[in-house]
Amino acid sequence: MKLRNRFTLLALALGLFGVLGARSQIAPVSENWENHCAKCHGADGKGATKVGKKLKLKDYTDAAVQAAMTDEEILKVITEGIFEGEKEKMKAYKDELSEAEIKELVAYVRKFKP
Ligand code: HEC
Repeated sequence: MKLRNRFTLLALALGLFGVLGARSQIAPVSENWENHCAKCHGADGKGATKVGKKLKLKDYTDAAVQAAMTDEEILKVITEGIFEGEKEKMKAYKDELSEAEIKELVAYVRKFKP
């Protein structure tokens, strides 16, 4: 085998390794939404679930709702949760999800915008 071919093969192997390695650390964002958020906010982001209605969750497919929140606010809410005094309204996800996963969720919330 020529040296250049070997190098190409090595580069390919390393690339594949990188992709697979990243996969195992970060769950796909749709999976995270499904596992951690959909119970309340709904798979469709409308917050029309049983719990969501009770909590009076906002509809993320509503452009006005989207306009009323900044990316920084969304990031902070997912990271630190929402508390009303001692009462937890939404839990903090910083111990369960990585920073990268939380950032992807911010983008995911934005994608519900019509
Ligand atoms: C136990 C139900 C519950 C779960 C699970 C949940 N949330 Fe929430 N979420 C809430 C409540 C309650 C609020 C506050 C609503 C309010 O006060 O208007 C909220 C607020 C938010 C907000 C701030 C904007 C707003 O609607 O006020 C964002 C963004 C958000 N949630 C995203 C997420 C994401 C992303 C996940 C998953 C990682 C998640 N939530 C999981 C209940 C939940």
